[in-house]
Formats: sequence, C-alpha cells, structure tokens
Amino acid sequence: MDTMKAVRIHQYGGPDVLKYEDAPRPTPAADEVLVRVYATSVNPVDWKVREGFAKERLKYTMPFIPGWDVSGVVEAVGASAKRLKVGDEVYGRPDISRNGAYAEYIVVRESELALKPKSLDHVHAATIPLAALTAWQALFDGAKLSAGQTVLIHGAAGGVGTFAVQLAKLKGARVIATASSRNHDFLRSLGADQTIDYNTTKFEDVVHDVDAVLDTITGETGDRSYQVLKKGGTYVSILMPPNQEKAAAHGVRAHHTFVQPNVEQLNELATLVDTGRLKPIIEKVFPLADARAAMDSNQTGHTRGKIAISVR
Ligand SMILES: NC(=O)c1ccc[n+]([C@@H]2O[C@H](COP(=O)([O-])OP(=O)(O)OC[C@H]3O[C@@H](n4cnc5c(N)ncnc54)[C@H](OP(=O)(O)O)[C@@H]3O)[C@@H](O)[C@H]2O)c1
Repeated sequence: MDTMKAVRIHQYGGPDVLKYEDAPRPTPAADEVLVRVYATSVNPVDWKVREGFAKERLKYTMPFIPGWDVSGVVEAVGASAKRLKVGDEVYGRPDISRNGAYAEYIVVRESELALKPKSLDHVHAATIPLAALTAWQALFDGAKLSAGQTVLIHGAAGGVGTFAVQLAKLKGARVIATASSRNHDFLRSLGADQTIDYNTTKFEDVVHDVDAVLDTITGETGDRSYQVLKKGGTYVSILMPPNQEKAAAHGVRAHHTFVQPNVEQLNELATLVDTGRLKPIIEKVFPLADARAAMDSNQTGHTRGKIAISVR
C-alpha cells in the first residue's frame, strides 16, 4: 500500500497523542478527488477534537487525521467527479467527520472543493475556507447583515473574526470589534470602526442598539450580548446553540451557525481575494512535522488571524 506522511491522533487527549508518522495514502471514491496537500491551517476544532470534543457525535476511527482546511493540487479524480481535473489548484473545508488535511494527501468530495484564489500561495489559501465560510454564513445567512447596519463582533482578532470584520465592512456595515488592546490598531487597519478592550471595558456600557452580534466567544460574553441588540436584532453564536428563551425575553432573534461546505461561497471569497478586497492574516507558519506546536500555539486562545501549516 502507498504511504504518506501524516499527523494522526491515536487516542483522545493532550498534545502527546499527536504522532507524525507514515499513514496509508487514501484513494478517491467515485464522487471524490485525491488532493496533494500543499497547506492546511489550524482551527480550534482541531485541538477540541483531539481532546474528545463531540466524540459521541463524531465517531472517528483511530488513528485519524485532523485538519479541516486544505489547499492543494488535484492528483486524481473519482469516476463520477466531473467538475475538477488533475492539476487543478483547489481549496476547501473537508467534511469534519472524516480524515483531515494534516497529511500529504487527502480525499475530499468534489462538492466541497473550489478553485483556490489565483493570487495567493497555498499557505495563505489554506487559512481561508473554514474560518471565512463561518464568518460569511454567520453574518449573511445567520444575521442577514445588510449595508448601513451595525454589527458587534466578539473575538474580532481571531481566525473567524478577522474575516468577519472585513466581510462586514465590504457589505457596508459599521463594525464594532472586541479584542485586547494590542490588537486595536490591527483591527482598525482591517476596517473596524470602533474597538473595545474586553479586559478593561464592559462592552454593554458603550454599545447599544446594534443590528447584529457575531459571538465567537460565548459564555458570559454571550449572556451580556442580548442587551446591546435593538429589538428584532440578531445574535449569532458559532459555539453552543443560543438560549431561545433569553433571546425572546430581549425581543431579539438568536441563531447558531455551524459551518457548512459551500462552493459558491468559496468562489465568491476567491474573487474578493483576487480583486484585493479580502486578505487572510497569518500569524505564523509551521511545517507539518511541527503540527503539535502549531496546535499548541492556537490553543493559547490569542492567535491574531490564523496559524498555517505548510505541507510541501
Ligand atoms: N460553528 C462553527 O462552525 C465554528 C467555526 C469556526 C470556529 N468556531 C469556534 O469559534 C471560536 C473562535 O474560532 P476562531 O478560529 O476565531 O478562534 P481563534 O482564532 O483561536 O480566536 C482567537 C482570538 O480570540 C480573541 N479572544 C480571546 N478571548 C476573547 C474575549 N473574551 N473577547 C474577545 N476576544 C477574545 C483573541 O484576541 P486577543 O488576543 O486580543 O485576546 C484572539 O485573537 C472557537 O471556539 C471555534 O471552535 C466555530
């Protein structure tokens, strides 16, 4: 059997359960393509899954490969895959219930891949799919954000937040962003109109009557968010499904976004990148063999933008 280098999780637990090793090289089923991975990126779900998050729902067969962002080149196509061809440069967010992209090769359903932005290298392209699709779906499908509205974005300096700030501005919305003060100039450079240091200021003291809240933090941040919305406004959580009774008590809508693959949205994101209107922010790039350090770096909870993993 052909082998490849991969980072695999052998049991749920801390960083020690990650092994950089030889693994079987997958072969594509009829509706899948085999992608030679050039880069992937770290999302918090990677270390959450490693620790056993949602293990009742996501029943991985051990050992399994994490990493649900990919940018690479199509190496082979399944019999019924018609849109993509060998040699295409693609990016996407593969199915989270299957092996991920911390590996030299991955099989992905053709329906989950788009052509990557032409103006970016693979490392930058790989930081886009999961986080940017989440931001897009939370802002536009969940909150139905439109031009002239105001959105409060919690965790604005992170992977999802940095795309959300840019996408909300592109829509013509006013953006209020929470982050520690070291990130305020950075967030203003991405387009944020107002920044709030969550360490020193209670956002509910300075924010009122917003149309939407995008919450990447939740917990007590989420509990305090309903009161800053105008009546009929929308609270969107990308963590736990929000409490509908609390939302109703404040006269607001509450929505939960769990990112879905979407080729049309990936195409639109690629166009925004290639026309210079959207940019991924990378804090640091690690080689695949150092995926453990890459995950540790993200697990601090203070990544600015994204951590990327270079595979080739
Ligand atoms: N539902 C979905 O489909 C979906 C998709 C993607 C992500 N998620 C989840 O959403 C969360 C965020 O993901 P991510 O990729 O954006 O994470 P991330 O990149 O690791 O977020 C790090 C950022 O969070 C900021 N932060 C930390 N504590 C904060 C607070 N109390 N208030 C405001 N900002 C704070 C940090 O800013 P400072 O350094 O300035 O503190 C840092 O920039 C994760 O829990 C992830 O699992 C869900």
